[in-house]
Amino acid sequence: MTKKRHIRWGIIGLGNIANKFATDLFAVNDAELYAVASRTQQKADDFAEKYQATKAYCSYEALANNANVDAVYIATPHSQHKENTLLCLEQGIEVLCEKPFAMNADEVNRMIATATQHNTLLMEGLWTYFLPHYIFSYYSV
Ligand SMILES: NC(=O)c1ccc[n+]([C@@H]2O[C@H](COP(=O)([O-])OP(=O)(O)OC[C@H]3O[C@@H](n4cnc5c(N)ncnc54)[C@H](OP(=O)(O)O)[C@@H]3O)[C@@H](O)[C@H]2O)c1
Repeated sequence: MTKKRHIRWGIIGLGNIANKFATDLFAVNDAELYAVASRTQQKADDFAEKYQATKAYCSYEALANNANVDAVYIATPHSQHKENTLLCLEQGIEVLCEKPFAMNADEVNRMIATATQHNTLLMEGLWTYFLPHYIFSYYSV
């Protein structure tokens, strides 16, 4: 039997949706909010205190350089998704990136190629795909 992994999550970009993700993470088994990164230290510190994260960084690079981070949730604006995603993938960190994935197909292809090169998981935060009626539609065709 495969042992369940305990996943140490990081979040990059501490805005609206990052708060929702951090709240929901409390309901997930075998997962913890380990590190958060903002462009400002005070915001990172406040977010870390609110959601009990161990590490709070004032740069996205610093979070990506922490080898204890297993997976990162990218919650920045679309225009930053490619850059932030590559930053993590190149460190071997798995990425869940908010939708829309990037600004155009070239950026998405680059993200996928980098994930493939580093043998690292890359996923878009397209939660509607997992709603029950999508599964029903899939099996009815
Ligand atoms: N899946 C969904 O249902 C869903 C729902 C809502 C939003 N989203 C997506 O999630 C992403 C974030 O949305 P949001 O509503 O959370 O946005 P938001 O409240 O504006 O937060 C985005 C965060 O990104 C960081 N950031 C980095 N560079 C920035 C820049 N140049 N300008 C502004 N912020 C910058 C900031 O965090 P720091 O200051 O901490 O660095 C900011 O707080 C978007 O791509 C959006 O489409 C998805």
